[in-house]
Amino acid sequence: MVKICCIGAGYVGGPTMAVMALKCPEIEVAVVDISEPRINAWNSDKLPIYEPGLDDVVKQCRGRNLFFSTDVERHVFESDIVFVSVNTPTKTQGLGAGKAADLTYWESAARMIADVSKSSKIVVEKSTVPVRTAEAIEKILMHNSKGIEFQILSNPEFLAEGTAIKDLYNPDRVLIGGRDNPAGQKAVKALTDVYAHWVPLERIICTNLWSAELSKLAANAFLAQRISSVNAMSALCEATGADVTQVAHAVGTDTRIGPKFLNASVGFGGSCFQKDILNLIYICECNGLPEAANYWKQVIKVNDYQKTRFANRVVSSMFNTVSGKKIAILGFAFKKDTGDTRETPAIDVCNRLVADMAKLSIYDPQVLEEQIRKDLSMARFDWDHPAHLQKIKAEGMLEQVCVVSDAYEATKDAHGICVLTEWDEFKTLDFKRIFENMCKPAFVFDGRNVVDAVKLREIGFIVYSIGKPLDSWLKDMPSVA
Ligand code: NAI
Repeated sequence: MVKICCIGAGYVGGPTMAVMALKCPEIEVAVVDISEPRINAWNSDKLPIYEPGLDDVVKQCRGRNLFFSTDVERHVFESDIVFVSVNTPTKTQGLGAGKAADLTYWESAARMIADVSKSSKIVVEKSTVPVRTAEAIEKILMHNSKGIEFQILSNPEFLAEGTAIKDLYNPDRVLIGGRDNPAGQKAVKALTDVYAHWVPLERIICTNLWSAELSKLAANAFLAQRISSVNAMSALCEATGADVTQVAHAVGTDTRIGPKFLNASVGFGGSCFQKDILNLIYICECNGLPEAANYWKQVIKVNDYQKTRFANRVVSSMFNTVSGKKIAILGFAFKKDTGDTRETPAIDVCNRLVADMAKLSIYDPQVLEEQIRKDLSMARFDWDHPAHLQKIKAEGMLEQVCVVSDAYEATKDAHGICVLTEWDEFKTLDFKRIFENMCKPAFVFDGRNVVDAVKLREIGFIVYSIGKPLDSWLKDMPSVA
């Protein structure tokens, strides 16, 4: 019987291993973490992350062949395959600050594996890491191995939060990179056999280690680049009277381009896109490729531009001041069907509005008040000027923010509404009721193009939809570009 252990019980480790345990009932899977509250939550009825379908999978296997534990060393010691799925954030200080990946957690996991192992193991990079990290990990393991053999594989994860279970059941591909020698290929085969329990073999791609590591960074860079491309187009649409949805549809029907991931929005967020592109930029720079680095920098710059452009549009439309005005924020998570707020565009938009003295009333169906307050009170790291932490809030400004538990309460007596996450429930709100309870003129700024703008205009709202032809009201206001 093969035993698997996964270090890191986060957004990737938890769901990935739960699905693996479900699909491989004869394999024992232990998910371990140094965070006791996180492991306690995995062992409770209220899992630490919200992900559609996850509760069901965990309920089926927990206690059978899926275990969550803080006893990291024991489970690593007992297992044949060790996945490492710890966080790899952007470095905030020292060499490479603002761009390079911080591998502190990875390195400490690797040293611990070397320390406690008494039998040969396959160590799998599940975290997203810079290309050639496996080489460094190999060195740490070999130099501390006491004669035990370790094989390193790169098996980056491509799940998307919000659809993680669906993605894990039916992945577009599983990527496994290994050393091009018999021992390396044997390890690749062992991991392939695990995935082959439910993934068709033709969807399991085997490459060398460096290609697998780089493919993950490349995939995220390409995905984010599509969003920045359509967002840059959305600014031009607003300036010219074109409609970004129509343009995206026309462009996306070209089979070489394809229709997915072409929705204009207030900007991309999540823990990965920005971090992984910054990492890619750093690797390009370290390899003497500044032109390639600058190309990818623009993807993040356009994303920052889009968030600023949105916030500026809110302020300029409302007579160039939001001071003392109540603004309802509908949605705080970085996308629907997740409670994750890491790098959510809502943080930047809210900070900007708070700095202009607006009073915010925030509602998100999955994000807790504590998390929102924490996100808004943290100094923001400026990736473009890594020495700076942006402190745009004066002490006490968070008093301007309240977090409420439904959209009607959030919008009551508000001057404007910003839709910042595309939660389905925002499409079916009773906007007539909302309009009646708002100050007039009542504004809706739709950062996700989810509300029915025509209907809302009939009710009496002034509506801004990203990348769509502007209301005459908005056209008459000062330019926000
Ligand atoms: P996360 O922050 O949710 O989870 C990481 C966990 O690792 C934390 O619970 C932390 O306590 C634990 N940890 C850190 N050091 C440890 C150690 N030495 N021993 C035991 N536990 C330790 O991070 P998330 O989102 O799961 O991401 C993990 C990796 O997967 C990152 O490299 C990320 O870039 C990558 N990734 C994330 C995706 C996502 O959608 N969140 C998708 C694909 C890849």
